[in-house]
Amino acid sequence: MSRLRELPSGGVWTAAEQVWFAGVRLRATMTVLRLADGGLWVHSANEPTPELCAELDRLGHVRWIVVPNRYHHLHASAMKARYRDAQVIGPRSAQSRNEALVLDVASDDERLPALVPEVAPVALRGVPFLDETLFFHTATGSLIGADVMMCGCAADHFTWRWASRLFGQFGRYKAPPDVRKNTRGGPEVRQALDEVAKLPVKRILVAHSDPVEDEPLERLREAWSFVRA
Ligand SMILES: [Fe+2]
Repeated sequence: MSRLRELPSGGVWTAAEQVWFAGVRLRATMTVLRLADGGLWVHSANEPTPELCAELDRLGHVRWIVVPNRYHHLHASAMKARYRDAQVIGPRSAQSRNEALVLDVASDDERLPALVPEVAPVALRGVPFLDETLFFHTATGSLIGADVMMCGCAADHFTWRWASRLFGQFGRYKAPPDVRKNTRGGPEVRQALDEVAKLPVKRILVAHSDPVEDEPLERLREAWSFVRA
């Protein structure tokens, strides 16, 4: 069975694996874009199994491996080992958590928008605990993130269904519990969210939940209302 599924917008594929994190079993979704030059941009890589790599190889050649924040670096090095001429984009803070991770381009590198013009980086500043950069894919109006928000739903493993109810985020998007606990509001994060709110976003893709298609910017605003309190 194919792991990669193309979204109706076309040119965007996702695949999910299961991970244990802090005692709950979560979906971890990888997003793949095919760029104008035929190269692939792989965000929050899943484990590069032979089956997954065969599917990627049918789509194009992996040129970019994106580590979106401090935490989603798990398979980036293995993906790089498989696709040696790919360049790894990510925050320096992820390197301090993973010595094997070698970055070719830092997420805040001024060259990045020109290197991959189809995908605009928007740093979620003021949230050093997460240190996430969001990416806006202009062609499809897709805002691609990882841990920027999440919710539990009926399709999830019972551990996260249970925990998400406890945290008040079953069927309701919020920032992850540990991010809320470790983030204080301030002008930086509010400005970053205001910047995102100006984008013509049609959907938000996140790592641990379904794509957010219904009023995605409103869901994001609600998820981060705690920094405006
Ligand atoms: Fe995550």
